[in-house]
Amino acid sequence: MRITMIGAGYVGLVSGACFADFGHVVTCVDSDPERVERLNRGEVPIFEPGLEEIVERNREEERLFFTSALPEAVGEADVVFIAVGTPSRRGDGRADLTYVYAAAEDVARHVSGYTVIVTKSTVPVGTGDAVERIVREAVADIDVSVVSNPEFLREGAAIEDFKRPDRIVIGVEDERAKTVMSEVYRPLFVNQAPVIFTGRRTAELTKYAANAFLATKITFINEIADLCERAGANVQEVARGIGLDNRIGSKFLHAGPGFGGSCFPKDTRALVETAREFESPCQIVESVVTVNEMRKTRMAQKVVRACGGTVSGKTVALLGLTFKPNTDDMRESPAIAIAEALVAAGATLNGHDPEGMEQAKKVLPAVNYADTAYACVEEADAVVLVTEWDAYRALDLKRIKDLVRVPIFVDLRNVYRRAEVERYGFTYVDVGRG
Ligand code: NAD
Ligand code: UDX
Repeated sequence: MRITMIGAGYVGLVSGACFADFGHVVTCVDSDPERVERLNRGEVPIFEPGLEEIVERNREEERLFFTSALPEAVGEADVVFIAVGTPSRRGDGRADLTYVYAAAEDVARHVSGYTVIVTKSTVPVGTGDAVERIVREAVADIDVSVVSNPEFLREGAAIEDFKRPDRIVIGVEDERAKTVMSEVYRPLFVNQAPVIFTGRRTAELTKYAANAFLATKITFINEIADLCERAGANVQEVARGIGLDNRIGSKFLHAGPGFGGSCFPKDTRALVETAREFESPCQIVESVVTVNEMRKTRMAQKVVRACGGTVSGKTVALLGLTFKPNTDDMRESPAIAIAEALVAAGATLNGHDPEGMEQAKKVLPAVNYADTAYACVEEADAVVLVTEWDAYRALDLKRIKDLVRVPIFVDLRNVYRRAEVERYGFTYVDVGRG
């Protein structure tokens, strides 16, 4: 099967490479010529564990190609996936569909023979209908089916998530498209991954419902963590106590600095806006958005309190800048809001991240970047663990104690146990553990 992927970002590149690994012939098209050039030199422009090997293998075996030339790539394809960005629209929080619509129109003009156009980008309910209108207006007698196939992969675990998904959701409106999509995912049928065929609108809404539910779970445990702090209880034990109930489940109950990333923040905002548009408000999700936004600055206040009420003229060392470990993605990372609030309060910031510093420099230019975690904490008045990279899980606390000016350790991910940090003479502050 010949697949063309429009957009070679996190989703397009991972999906394209994995489809090629399953044996399909895949061409990834990206409008950023520099990205395409790098990919054609064998460089993978994002940090995603395991991706480089798959890209290399499939390029060598001539099943994976990269180009900026959309017309040829689309003309040869049986299936065209649209995997371009759908960021928050400035001002109102709705999903910005400019890139999706532009890609759809471009694709329509170059398909040849029956082609299935699949939206993999996360798009509001009804976007498939709009894409269908756009392609039919662009080319009157076009022979296409428009399908929704939302992607559920997580950054940092993207390959595993793509190859062994909990489920695949495919929204189709006709049998022809269903047959083609079954063929695309046949390698996963063999792995017994559940494939759910739905209507197109249902598939679109399923994606937002999934992300909003997970974001709600995180926000719920974060509020319980705050309550635990006041009430002298331990949120990790509460999470275990409720998570062992199968109806609740133990995942996504880690309290922390609030969710960030390229999906949860924008998708919760977009769902709120969609719900308003349909005059069917999602008040729970509205609260999740508000509570999570406030939480990030409240984490900065936590650091200020730990420093005795002021950080003015003090140096704070931030360990971990990306929104989660195992990615270099800085999009809506809680570290950004925390850093900005601390700078506004008069702090000087040192920062370190195992993979994200190149991206971090673009959004946090005022931070002094250090090559190692230990260089980062030198002469610091407080150390803040923001992102739980493995490299920070067994830090040499004695060495850190000797390097810092003031031994204050704020652990926003509850990585350490109080006793083990306090043993070295630190004042230790965590999230929701009494
Ligand atoms: P991204 O910004 O990493 O990549 C998008 C790519 O599309 C960019 O490289 C851009 O140059 C390219 N592009 C834009 N317009 C184009 C066009 N007309 N032709 C060719 N290329 C074009 O975005 P992403 O994180 O991969 O997200 C893509 C979509 O997938 C979004 O809707 C997102 O919500 C969804 N999604 C993302 C994740 C994730 O973990 N990142 C997970 C699930 C779903
Ligand atoms: C998410 C969804 O999980 C994925 O299914 C979807 O396709 C894209 O959005 P991703 O953003 O890559 O994936 O990361 P995820 O692991 O979900 O974490 C998102 C944010 O929530 C991170 O900032 C993370 O630190 C935070 N989080 C996650 C918590 O604070 N606590 C948790 O228990 C889990």
